[in-house]
Amino acid sequence: MDKRFMNKTALVTGAASGIGEAAVRAFAAEGANVVISDISADGQNLSEELNRQGGSTVFIQADVTKEEDVKRMIDAAVDRYGQLDVLFANAGIGVPSLIHETSFDDWKKVIDVNLHGVFLCNKYTITQMLKQAAGGAIVNNDSIHGLVGRQRTGSYSAAKGAVKLLTQTGCAEYSSRGIRINNVNPGYIETPLVDRLPEPVKQELVKLHPIGRLGRPEEVAKAVLFLASDDASFITGASLVVDGGYTSV
Ligand code: NAI
Repeated sequence: MDKRFMNKTALVTGAASGIGEAAVRAFAAEGANVVISDISADGQNLSEELNRQGGSTVFIQADVTKEEDVKRMIDAAVDRYGQLDVLFANAGIGVPSLIHETSFDDWKKVIDVNLHGVFLCNKYTITQMLKQAAGGAIVNNDSIHGLVGRQRTGSYSAAKGAVKLLTQTGCAEYSSRGIRINNVNPGYIETPLVDRLPEPVKQELVKLHPIGRLGRPEEVAKAVLFLASDDASFITGASLVVDGGYTSV
């Protein structure tokens, strides 16, 4: 297979686990320099493992809700690799609860990571890409719950719905400068985020996917790499649903 990301630098947030980790492995396999960023120090092990296998990665610990962290993360990426070509804004959390039982603190926490974090990473990546004047590609990790609601997803859906429109606004503002911005919208995927749900809830979720199972992180990573690659050169402002049919029925 052609290595689509040779001489390119990809930054992945929330990269120490789940979909982010799968994307890191996929970018590295396709020749990218990968900046692995996470609030958790676990990303260091992943970086060391990939570098031992001949990859070129660096770990930068950062909290996407902190503006200073995000600026430092972008600066460190550029210091290390000289450029930034791809952002996968993936870091996210979920705190499931009915609206009337959601504490304001939990609401703010989910909006902070899933919306403010994506905004900050987009803002400072775009600033860097405009400086480079060589275009770039951003993929924001949205969700089927950026498109449709479900019980106990109030704060999560509110944040993810806003990410969809942030992406479309970014498309309107930066497409003419060669920066493409898209969303990937996964259905339920087998990651620690979903593993934390009670088993009966997981069984109910399986039934909502016509394909008859939950998704795998690698299946989302493939869609992310497509959107980030030149194969998607005429695709911007789009929401690519990767959901085993969840939103079709
Ligand atoms: P995960 O829990 O396996 O991984 C999330 C990663 O984000 C963790 O490594 C965590 O340390 C990191 N993180 C959390 N808060 C952070 C912060 N403030 N700054 C930097 N990093 C932070 O979760 P998963 O499932 O891989 O989720 C990744 C993204 O995919 C999220 O945005 C989630 O909303 C989205 N998604 C997940 C789905 C699923 O079913 N697993 C479905 C649709 C979307």
